[in-house]
Amino acid sequence: MTKIDMPSYNIFIKEGAIRQLSQQLTDVYHGRHVFIITDRHVSNLYLQTIESALPDHVVQVVEIEPGEVSKSLDVYQQVISKLLSQGIKRDHLIIAFGGGVVGDLAGYVAATLYRGMAYVHIPTTLLAQVDSSIGGKVGIDLPEGKNLIGAFHQPGMVLIDPAFLKTLEPREYANGLAEMIKAGLIGDARLYQDLLIKSTVDQEDIIRAIHVKRKLVLADPYDHHERLLLNFGHTFGHAIEQQHGYRTYKHGEAISHGMLMALEIGIRLGVSSQALYDEVKTLLVDRQLVQEPLLDRRNYLDALVHDKKQMTTGLRFVLVEQPGKALVKVLQKEDLS
Ligand SMILES: NC(=O)c1ccc[n+]([C@@H]2O[C@H](COP(=O)([O-])OP(=O)(O)OC[C@H]3O[C@@H](n4cnc5c(N)ncnc54)[C@H](O)[C@@H]3O)[C@@H](O)[C@H]2O)c1
Ligand SMILES: [Zn+2]
Repeated sequence: MTKIDMPSYNIFIKEGAIRQLSQQLTDVYHGRHVFIITDRHVSNLYLQTIESALPDHVVQVVEIEPGEVSKSLDVYQQVISKLLSQGIKRDHLIIAFGGGVVGDLAGYVAATLYRGMAYVHIPTTLLAQVDSSIGGKVGIDLPEGKNLIGAFHQPGMVLIDPAFLKTLEPREYANGLAEMIKAGLIGDARLYQDLLIKSTVDQEDIIRAIHVKRKLVLADPYDHHERLLLNFGHTFGHAIEQQHGYRTYKHGEAISHGMLMALEIGIRLGVSSQALYDEVKTLLVDRQLVQEPLLDRRNYLDALVHDKKQMTTGLRFVLVEQPGKALVKVLQKEDLS
């Protein structure tokens, strides 16, 4: 079992790690009652697996519908009502078992129910394993926008089993790959080189991607400075998601377009090279994260620079100089067009 230490908890990674859940829990939770929050897809595939990995616990399950729609105030309240009806107490444990939607929602439930409870993450999508389960950000969406309500609430443990990835839909797999390519580009040239030559990742790649995020999160736990580098491709990516109503493009696809747009801007500013742009484009096309004709960044400028303050003081924008090396520049609207 590979262990990555975070300040207040550990991340464990191993193929088949789920079978050691009970053993891994002994260090972080001494009670018997656990409450698994999961979604219907993950439950259908793996509920038996996780239940049989907890032979000595009293296990209750709350199942939500899959998808971003479940990161809502309504579902948040339904989950809490269900947990209370199942008898959850403040010193019990919540297990977030699923992708980023389950992680964000269950983590937010854990952050707020009884003013904060212990929880552990068992991420089952590639995106959740390399990104959303790391860093302690939890939350839900409002009709006014994504992730508007949330908290920083660190789990007691993150247990990553790459075996779960075998059942992921190819589009969901690619979604996670996009964040890994980003991690390589901003902080680990070797990871990027690896992802250029193979389309399925292994445990070592997952570990490398986690280390990129870990380093930035530790330098900036509350997301003011260094974490900004994780936003490479996300400035335009968020604008693309928003403009298309979060339906047409998956997050990984939107940020893939966003990474290419950021590289184009980098070329214009003399920061990035055309050769890097061409290489990244070929990779993203090959992994079906972008299709030609590519989106035109000029169509997203209005969604991008939305507040007046950014119009006048500029936008902190992440550029990549070469694989593994990113920097932040304050840009004006004309730099982006
Ligand atoms: N907290 C953070 O720091 C952070 C960072 C990035 C993204 N996020 C959030 O993560 C969410 C997206 O997460 P996601 O991409 O994991 O989506 P998701 O949770 O919706 O999962 C995608 C789909 O895969 C299914 N699934 C999950 N595991 C599976 C498995 N092993 N086999 C087969 N199917 C499986 C799910 O049921 C769902 O249908 C967004 O809400 C985003 O805001 C949070
Ligand atoms: Zn992202």
